[in-house]
This record gives sequence, C-alpha cells and structure tokens, in this order.
Amino acid sequence: MAARTCLAIVLAAGEGTRMHSARPKVLHAIAGRTLLAHVLDTVSKAGVTSAAVVVGPGQDEVVAEVRRALPAAGIFVQSERHGTAHAVLAAKPAFATRPDDILIVYADTPLIRPATLSRLRAPLANDADIAVLGFRPADPTGYGRLIMKGTDLIAIREEADASASERAIGLCNGGIMALVGNSALAMLERIGNHNRKQEYYLTDAVEIARGMTLRAVAVEVEEDDVRGINTKTQLAEAESVAQQRLRRAALDAGVTLVAPDTVYLSADTKFGRDVVVEPYVVFGERVTVEDGAVIHSFSHLAGAHIGKGASVGPFARLRPGTRLGDGARIGNFVEVKEAVVEAGAKANHLSYIGDAFVGANANVGAGTITCNYDGVEKHRTTIGKAAFIGSNSALVAPVEIGEGAYIGSGSVITENVPADALALGRSRQMVKEGWATRLRGLKSLGKKKA
Ligand code: UD1
Ligand code: CA
Repeated sequence: MAARTCLAIVLAAGEGTRMHSARPKVLHAIAGRTLLAHVLDTVSKAGVTSAAVVVGPGQDEVVAEVRRALPAAGIFVQSERHGTAHAVLAAKPAFATRPDDILIVYADTPLIRPATLSRLRAPLANDADIAVLGFRPADPTGYGRLIMKGTDLIAIREEADASASERAIGLCNGGIMALVGNSALAMLERIGNHNRKQEYYLTDAVEIARGMTLRAVAVEVEEDDVRGINTKTQLAEAESVAQQRLRRAALDAGVTLVAPDTVYLSADTKFGRDVVVEPYVVFGERVTVEDGAVIHSFSHLAGAHIGKGASVGPFARLRPGTRLGDGARIGNFVEVKEAVVEAGAKANHLSYIGDAFVGANANVGAGTITCNYDGVEKHRTTIGKAAFIGSNSALVAPVEIGEGAYIGSGSVITENVPADALALGRSRQMVKEGWATRLRGLKSLGKKKA
C-alpha cells in the first residue's frame, strides 16, 4: 500500500499573552532553538508531504523564522485571532492538494517527537476519522479534557467551559490532532463559537465528527511529549525536559559528561567520540566538538568548532566564528571570537583573540590582546605559524606577525613584524642605582624633624 500523503498545519498565530513578553510566544527558545523551529523540525522528520504555518498579522519575525527553519512550508496569515479552528481555516488553500491525512500541530508544543506524530496518524489508516493526542499531566490546569466512552473519544471540553465533574477528568488534550483529509473541511467548517471565549475551538471537531457518524479516538502519550507552553514557568519546565533528552542522547553516543545535570546543550550541539565535558559548561547554538577534545569546567561556547584533541577552559569563552584546530589549547580566562586558531597553537591564559588568525603551533602569551576595534571599525590580526607572542602584548590591528617571529613581553605592536624577527614594542628599562636607599633616607629625616 502506498504511504498516505499528509499535510501538516502548524498554528503559530497566537499572541502568547500569558508569557508577558514583547516577543511572539513561538519565538521563545529552548535548547537554543525557537519553539517554532523545534516543531517544524519534528514535522519535517515525521514523513509529511507538505507543511503550512499559520502566523498572526504583522508577525514578520515569525515569517522569517519559518523561512529559515523550513523554507518549503507555505505561510498563511490569520488576520484576526478567533481561535484554533479559525486559525486552521486560514490555511484552507493548502487543503486543495487533497492530502490523505491532515495533521494539526500547535507551535507552542515543542517537545513533540516524529515517532509520536506517526503514532497519532496510524488510526486514520484503519477506522478512525480523527485522532487526538491525550496525556495525563501532573497539573491539568489550562488543558482541555478528553471525554471518553469506551475506546471512543466523544468530546473535548475546554477548561473554561467544563463542569466540575469534567474538570476532574485527568486525561487532557495534547493539542495535536490528525484528521482524515476528505472529511476534514466539512468538520472544521461546522465549528461555531458558542462558548465562554466566543472562539472557534478546533477541539469541537470531535463532537461534530460524531454528529456526522465519524469516529474519533485518543492516542495516549507521556506528558513530556505534549507539554504546552503558555507561561515562562512552562517554558522553563520544557527547557529542563529538552536538556535531559539532549544529555541522555550525548551520553548514549559515548560523550563523557562528568556531571550531566550541570551541562547545558543546544539542540544542534554535535560531539565526536571520546569527548569529555567537565561540570558546568554551556553550549550555545552551532557548536561542534571533534573526537577526543576536552571542555573544562565553566566554559561557554557558541558558534564554535573544536578540533580533535583540543582543550578548552576552564573558564574559556568561545564566541561565534571560533575554529580551533586539532590539539589547540585555549586556557583560563581566554575569549576567542571570529578567529581561527590552527593545530597545536596555544593561548593558555587571560587573552582576547578577536578577528584573528593564529597559525599552527604559535604561542600566545598570558595577557595578550588583539586590539581589533578602533572605535569605528573592526580590523584583523594575523599571527604566523610558530610565532611567539610575549606576555601582556597588545597587537593593534590591522597587523601581521610573521611566521616564527618573536614579540617581547609587554609590547604594543602597531606595525607588521617580518618572519623570524624580534620585535620589542615598549620603552627601554631605566635603572638608577641606590635610588631607593636615598628615598628611604629622606623619609626618615623628615620623620625626625616632626
Ligand atoms: C489548546 C487547546 C486545549 C489543549 C491545549 C494543549 C483549543 C481550543 N484548546 O489550549 O484543549 O489542552 O491547547 O496545549 O484548541 N493559535 C492561533 N490562532 C488563534 C488561537 C491560537 O494560531 O486564534 C495558536 C497558538 O499560537 C498556539 C495554538 O494555536 O500555538 C494553541 O493556542 P493556545 O491559545 O495556546 O491554546 P490553549 O489555551 O493552550
Ligand atoms: Ca497553548
């Protein structure tokens, strides 16, 4: 039998009032990725044929995020927010492709997994016309309740409209629904807004289906798959679940996390084999760590590539554009940004390396600073292979230090240094013999007089 085609509709038009934020709810992030991008990523891995995203009016940033995360998705604007069923109908033109299944996913439910979406669609291939993801949350406040009769789902009651006995039901609506394509529009277009909020509730599709002698079922999943995010507290709870999953996946792939609960990962963090991550390390977006590298405690990395066997930290900060070659060493209190540090090069203590190239096996001494910013523009520093930069040097960019050159400690380097040369960029030391003895003599004379 040919695989069933599927249109996924992602609802992202809500304002997210309960987040108390100027940012649209679906652009809040967990594990370094927006809620919307998590959902689009899952949808794209769930074997759907096409995707449509419903956004609110004027939500340009949300549109931009859809284009970035899933360029193939159609974008539809729900010009006024009249509820979840109203939002689905904003994507009505997408129904024209006549998909076998329609999957409706809320963009504020980021922990959903591809396998869960496939499980939800499975009953549609048998005798169900609607399938809804159900779960039993520790705290059901705010969720719609699933009213069952045997194995049939007969209605979903929103909390605001539920009676006391309906509120006592523990089985809740996860907000993700699959409908058989050829009856979906008929169901959706019958939904009215006769409820407390005067909204068109997608959840009413269930009772309507029964009226049309169609069958609805619930597919029960664990709470973590369908946690909805309406508040900052729920955002933090979802972050914690996402972190547990990512840590678990890293451990299962052979990464050594000495204290997993203290390491923060991004959804896109990539590790090679035999990587060791010490306690208290934060991985922002776009970090790749190759085989055998060690990330020591209290380091913060983002947009960085760490070569094989390299060593980072403790207390290092690697910012976007950092590329460390094999065996490179970035030590304590060193910040690196937009810089290539080639194989075997070292900057072990207290440095800023920004907009720079550090050649293989170069040694950047303690306290070296690349002065990359003149107050208006950024400039580049190039340090040649095996060069030696003495401690406490300031390299004033744009500047090039030749291969194998030697910079004396405490230098301020403003001009290029040829290969294998010595450059001293500091004033000569002055010595006055006996000067201190004479000073002490003068002081003790003064005291006697007083
Ligand atoms: C919804 C469900 C509830 C379920 C819960 C699961 C309805 C009526 N209720 O409640 O049964 O338990 O999710 O998390 O569906 N949206 C739009 N346009 C609108 C309104 C909402 O696009 O006009 C989008 C939102 O961006 C959001 C999603 O739809 O992604 C759900 O809306 P939300 O207001 O969060 O619904 P809940 O009250 O959480
Ligand atoms: Ca919600």
